Parts: sequence; structure tokens; C-alpha cells
Amino acid sequence: GHEKGFLQCFQTILGADNTTWQVIFTKSSSSYEPLLESSIRNARFLNSTSVPKPNLIVTPHSLFHIQVALFCSKKSGLQVRVRSGGHDYEGLSYVSHSHIPFLIIDLFNLRSITINMDEESAWVQSGATVGELYYAIAKKSKVHGFPAGSCSTIGVGGHFSGGGFGTIFRKYGLASDNVIDAQIIDVNGMILNRTLMGEDLFWAIRGGGGSSFGVITAWKIKLVPVPSKVTTFDVSRTLDQGATTLFHKWQTIAPKLPPELFLHSLVGVTNSASQEGGKTVVVSFSGLYLGTPENLLPLMQNSFAEFGLRRDNLTEMTWIQSVLHYAGYSIDESLEVLLRRNQSSPSFKAKSDYVKEPIPLHGLEGLWKMLLLENSPLLILTPYGGIMSEISESETPFPHRKGNLYGIQYMVNFASNEEAPKHIDWIRRLYAYMTPYVSKFPRQAYLNYRDLDLGVNQGKPWYEKAKSWGLKYFNCNFERLALVKARVDPGNFFRDEQSIPPL
Ligand code: FDA
Repeated sequence: GHEKGFLQCFQTILGADNTTWQVIFTKSSSSYEPLLESSIRNARFLNSTSVPKPNLIVTPHSLFHIQVALFCSKKSGLQVRVRSGGHDYEGLSYVSHSHIPFLIIDLFNLRSITINMDEESAWVQSGATVGELYYAIAKKSKVHGFPAGSCSTIGVGGHFSGGGFGTIFRKYGLASDNVIDAQIIDVNGMILNRTLMGEDLFWAIRGGGGSSFGVITAWKIKLVPVPSKVTTFDVSRTLDQGATTLFHKWQTIAPKLPPELFLHSLVGVTNSASQEGGKTVVVSFSGLYLGTPENLLPLMQNSFAEFGLRRDNLTEMTWIQSVLHYAGYSIDESLEVLLRRNQSSPSFKAKSDYVKEPIPLHGLEGLWKMLLLENSPLLILTPYGGIMSEISESETPFPHRKGNLYGIQYMVNFASNEEAPKHIDWIRRLYAYMTPYVSKFPRQAYLNYRDLDLGVNQGKPWYEKAKSWGLKYFNCNFERLALVKARVDPGNFFRDEQSIPPL
């Protein structure tokens, strides 16, 4: 019924336009499955019969198509999910875990990027990927960049609205910190820019997540300067090679390094003949320096001599080559690989934490033991500090600023969904193990690493119940987000498992 009502409504308003442009795909369309799967970035939600599928997929070619889709969804009682790059960790842009009939508005056709070099700014539509953005900037300038995430297929829409950090965020902040204007279609179908939407809504969509407030169609961003050459290095150590003491030191050193130096750490397990069980923990330290090897070497020698960084560990490259490198490509690849939107992805579950005090050695040893229980665990540890400590907690909804040494992302990949419960159980036990070592009251988490274990919307009193996860993502900003929500969408039309309830 919902579906038929929607189709009738859409066709009545658009008439022939819908046949000119293929805009709506029903389950009976041969394009429905490929389209749905085209940007599912967590195979946990692919081909799984327990995952509710959208009744319809709408692929707007214009803002008018979005306005009509919103109008007709309201009329026909279909819930709306907006998808940009589809990287949501819990699939919220294309799954309704609550089994409510819904449609996807997929923005992949709306992905133009217009760069204004005189102003050092750009307008980027939400359906673009960060790879497309980096590519477009590199085509115009060798000395400009943008501080957003590493994986090139991430969508601008979800990424910017939830924060967005990458290898130059200690110098320039989050993607959302560098947004200077935006275009949103609100629940009434109005197209609003920064002036029209007002400062409170403009504040909310720069870190509060887009899905609670409307369809954000474009962002105006500030480009940032990067040197013509940057320096990278990747150095790994196993437990036998002193990984534990190095990592223990890293915790206090990395957040205090100059903002031009990003030194993050990846922890996994690898095969080892010399260790009991045939496996050992391996810690990789990966660095990006906005400067030359000649300046980096003395800097590391003075601040982190134990690390023993050598000239032959270093590679000089352009900034855009460092983008290729961190996106997992060879730096000799043609830049066009950044335009690839398709990427096969494993099933995974992830969680996040923030560390405010260094984890003691015995804590690390216990952590390594936990990791050795899994086949392919991964921890990504991102040092904060730099400009992140200078921006106030209430500047945007993203509250994780001063006082954080580093953020942790825990991740576990698995080959088949039958194995999911075992691995998800493991990562939950790991999270429980980490409780004494991470932030408390609230235990903070990063919205863009969405985790439904933290809680989901479940009835009245909506706001009070939502605090269980809302305070973790937003801390003191949660209340303001709920007040903005009440102003712009009092009927709670834009909602999902973790949308902001109106207060
Ligand atoms: P997706 O389309 O799934 O949207 C995510 C959420 O935003 C959904 O709730 C959706 O409804 C909503 N939304 C999307 N577009 C909207 C719009 N136009 N208007 C309103 N609401 C909208 N993060 C990071 O900070 N740094 C990193 O380096 C990485 N790396 C990374 C690698 C990989 C492989 C994955 C899968 C994820 C990351 N992330 C990340 C996390 C990433 O930032 C996060 O998943 C983003 O929300 C993804 O944005 P997408 O548009 O791709 O997701």
C-alpha cells in the first residue's frame, strides 16, 4: 500500500519527467539489487535474509526529485533513509533494523564538485566520495588539500555530517570543522543555505549526523594548504621486537607531536614461529609529515628516539600520493583510482573508544592476550592533540577535543555471516575488558563509527532513553542537538535507530 501510494504520488507530480530520468526502482526492477548493493560497505548487511530491504530506491537527478520524494514519503507513510557513500558501520543508510517499510534516497547522481581557487573553497555535493573530492582538488592545485578520511570511497554526505578525520586532522581539524556553508532540504521540502537554515541547524549538521535533520545536498568547504612534498613512513614491530614498550611510549608522545606530524598506530596479529600458538601481536606505526625528511628526522630523534626512525624508512611524495597511500593504493597508481566507487568489503563489526590516560603495561599485555584470541582483529589508534585540543567541545556537536590522548577503533572482519555471532561476542568482550582504561561518564564514542550496541531509539521518553548513546557520541552537545531537532523536525520524520529525538 505504502509503495503504491508513493509511486502514484511521484508520478502525478513528475509526470513524464520520471520516464526521462530513471529515478525510482522497485523490487521488481532488474536494477534494484545491483543498485542496492552498489554501496553496501559492510557485507554483514549484504545477502542476509534477516536484513529488511527497502521497498523502493530513489536516485534523484535534481533537488526537485528529492523534494518530491520527501513529500510523497510523508504522504504514503514510507520512512526515508538517505544514502551518500553507504559506509555506515551499521548500515543505517540502507537497512531499517526496526522492519518499518522504507525507501532509500541514494544521492550518487548528485556529486558535482566546483572548486573556486581564488577563494580557496569548493562546493561539493553530498553524493561525491572523498576520493572524488581529493582528485578534483589535485587537478587544480598541488598545494591544496582537504582534511577528511582516508578510504577514498567514503561518501561526503555521511562523513562530513558525522565529523570526519584523516591524516591531516591534527593540523586542520575535522572535515566538519572546515565546512563554511551547506545546502539542506528540510522536512517541509524547503531548500536552505546557511543563512536560511540558521546557525543552530548549521551547527547540528557539522558532527551531529545528517540523518536526523533533513537531506543535506551540498557543502561549501575551505581548502587547506599542503606543502608540495610530504613525507611518510610505515614501521612495524612484533612483541619480540619490543612493540609493547614502544606502544606504551607512543601513547604519550604521539598526541604531543607538532600538528604537522600524524603518527597513528595499527595493531593486529600475525603468524610467528617463535611464539606459543604460532601467532604474535604486531604494531605498525604509520606517519605522515607535512614537511621534508630532513626536518622530520631530527624531530623524531628529539621526541621519540626509542622509535629509531631512519632515513631509509622515509618516502617523499606529493600530498595526493599520500592520499593514494593511505587509501591502500601504490603511490605510482594513476589518480583515477580515486574515482572508483565500487569496492568489495568484508563483513565486520567495529566499536570505538577514547583514551585520556596512558594504558599501563599490564593493561596492554591483557589487551594483546585478547587480540590473540581472534583471527583478524584490528585496532586503529589515532592520536589527537594539535588543533583538536584548541577547538572547544561545543564548537560543533563532535565533542572529542582537549584531554584525549588518542581514539581507538576496534574492528573484526569475518568471512561469512554464520560466524558473525562468535566475532561480535569477542569484540564485546574486548570492549568490556577495556573499560578501566578508557574515558568514563560518559564512555565516549565516535558517531561515524556507528555502534548500535550503545543503544537504539525505543519509545517514550525518547530523549531520556536516547541519552544512553547520545551522551557517548555528543556529550554535553546532545541536549542542544535534541532542541535543534525539535525546532526543525518536531514530528520526527527523519528518524532511524540512532537519530536525535526532539526535545
Ligand atoms: P552513508 O551513506 O552510509 O551515511 C551514513 C549516515 O549518514 C546514515 O545515517 C545516512 O542516512 C546519513 N546520511 C548520508 N548522507 C546524508 C545526507 N546527504 N543527508 C543527510 N543524512 C545523510 N571515518 C573517518 O572519520 N575517517 C576515516 O578514515 C574513515 N574511514 C573509513 C573506512 C571505511 C572502509 C569505512 C566503511 C568507514 C570509514 N569511516 C571513516 C567512517 C565514515 O566516516 C562513516 O561511515 C560515514 O558516515 C560514511 O559516510 P557515507 O556517506 O559513506 O555513509
